[in-house]
Amino acid sequence: CGIVGYIGDKQAQEILMDGLSKLEYRGYDSAGIATLENGKILVKKKKGRLQNLSDCLELTPLNGKIGIGHTRWATHGIPSNVNSHPHCSLNNQIAVVHNGIIENYMDLKEELLALGHLFASDTDTEVIAHLLCELYNGDMVETLQTAMKKMKGSYALGILCSDEPEKIVVVRKDSPLIVGLGSGENFIASDIPAILKYTREVYLLDNGEIAILTKDTIVVLDANGEPVDKAVFHVDWDPGDAEKGGYDHFMMKEMTEQPKAMVDTLAGRLNTDGIRLDDINLDAETMKNINRIHIVACGTAYHAGMVGKFYFEKFARIAVETEAASEYRYKDPILDKKTLLIVVSQSGETADTLAAIRLAKEKGARVLAVTNVVGSSIAREADDVLYTNAGPEIAVASTKAYLTQVGCMLVLAMHLGQLNGEIISEEMKRLGHALLNTPELVQKAMESKEAVKTFAYQHFNINDLFFIGRGLDFYTCLEGSLKLKEISYIHSEAYAAGELKHGPIALIDDGTIVVAVCTQEKVFEKMLSNIKEVKARGAFVLAIVQEAHKGIASEVDEVFVIPNMDDDITPIPTVVYLQLLAYYLAVARGCDVDKPKNLAKSVTVE
Ligand code: G6P
Repeated sequence: CGIVGYIGDKQAQEILMDGLSKLEYRGYDSAGIATLENGKILVKKKKGRLQNLSDCLELTPLNGKIGIGHTRWATHGIPSNVNSHPHCSLNNQIAVVHNGIIENYMDLKEELLALGHLFASDTDTEVIAHLLCELYNGDMVETLQTAMKKMKGSYALGILCSDEPEKIVVVRKDSPLIVGLGSGENFIASDIPAILKYTREVYLLDNGEIAILTKDTIVVLDANGEPVDKAVFHVDWDPGDAEKGGYDHFMMKEMTEQPKAMVDTLAGRLNTDGIRLDDINLDAETMKNINRIHIVACGTAYHAGMVGKFYFEKFARIAVETEAASEYRYKDPILDKKTLLIVVSQSGETADTLAAIRLAKEKGARVLAVTNVVGSSIAREADDVLYTNAGPEIAVASTKAYLTQVGCMLVLAMHLGQLNGEIISEEMKRLGHALLNTPELVQKAMESKEAVKTFAYQHFNINDLFFIGRGLDFYTCLEGSLKLKEISYIHSEAYAAGELKHGPIALIDDGTIVVAVCTQEKVFEKMLSNIKEVKARGAFVLAIVQEAHKGIASEVDEVFVIPNMDDDITPIPTVVYLQLLAYYLAVARGCDVDKPKNLAKSVTVE
């Protein structure tokens, strides 16, 4: 879910709606805003896309100059008008927008029901509004402090109270929230893009901190209620980065930005002798005490972590486990101060990934984060941070973030190999050279988009699609398959090609499309055998090969040829073809590419 808030001299509605439009990637089941006008809180909320709310506000605008807004990804209660935020107490005395989950909301609700409170929705958030109303003593900050002692779970809250009509009170606990600093106006937001157009100076609230905003002042209190002197954080993203800029979809814009994103990821980190990572403090001494690496992440970032395992084992010769964060945290992983936990996360806010960091730190492990968002929770809780520098990613389906995560994995593996003396200088030169070529290779891959589009428009009517590959290609297949499911809703599976004969081959029939990614020389012949196996069962095969193997055309139905390159970097340009394939299949099927059903970009609940 996404939060935005405004207090100043302008009409809040316009700024809130603009902010919500930048936050739709956080959820788009429903949206709402509340403003304070002549001492009264007025609320408008609507199920469905933001446009529904916008249409409704066009007929009956809200004119207040103080307001809060929310876009929702449903957790408790189906998407509906009543379940949308803001939620209010009786007579709209208090309005609340909330990200996170109140875990003990059932108990609190029972207590409040017994006290005579009436509830309109099924949400945990409405409980907060009623709880605040029940405890209200004329001072919202004190009231909130008391309420926080009763609420369990995670919450970022924006609160309006009609008895204190000149302020917005906010709090952050395990769910991100920032305060934007303006002149004669101030802002709140769950994510930077929401307010980037208005200010680039922000306070990043820490856990347990409360901020009280008026149009001219911001007071921040720590978890003990003591005033904090917050440092101003300057956001260096360009406001235009969060705009679609003439593209049909953010996803296409972000795929097009990939060559530049790779340049920014590598900038200053590669030189003729090897790797320089000035931003992290892992030195040879620390690495002597590390005997295993765990890579933990979710979704697309998890796939980048799989590529990472391959690189770390190959170049730094350290044992690595890669695990989905939602699994890792509920196991009893072998984790101690000799473990290096590497978390990968575009947003830096994914709840399960954050929980893995806390678990690892409890056990004394060192934590390194690879993330895209400066100042995010994950960046702040990790011991070291390697930023991907991809710029804001808005489309739900991650593209440039993935590519840069893979780039960071290789850079890190080279760095660790360098520290523990496992990587010889020839190898370092080879990889460095290969990496420097990646922006150009990605550019070339993007230039093949017409060919991918033609293929997609010929085949968009399919029900299933299989991806097969070996080694690094298998991870690319997993990512391609996820991308396809996410945005085109086509059923798809990715298999390690050698595993096909152990079951999945039973699913191959006449005309089943199989995308065979065969960029790895070492296993090329094996892939050819696997292709023959599926062809013999009627499959329609699209192969992706390096130029040297373009002769494969006689064995398959379609080929995409990538230039000859070092086998270790093929995941970077190859995945671009699979991103494009997912994109054009989704467009051909009329899907909403940037806002796929049931998904949200940033998942701050467990
Ligand atoms: C969500 C998004 C995915 C993303 C995953 C992890 O599921 O839809 O695109 O890969 O979260 O997000 P993170 O921000 O931690 O990389």
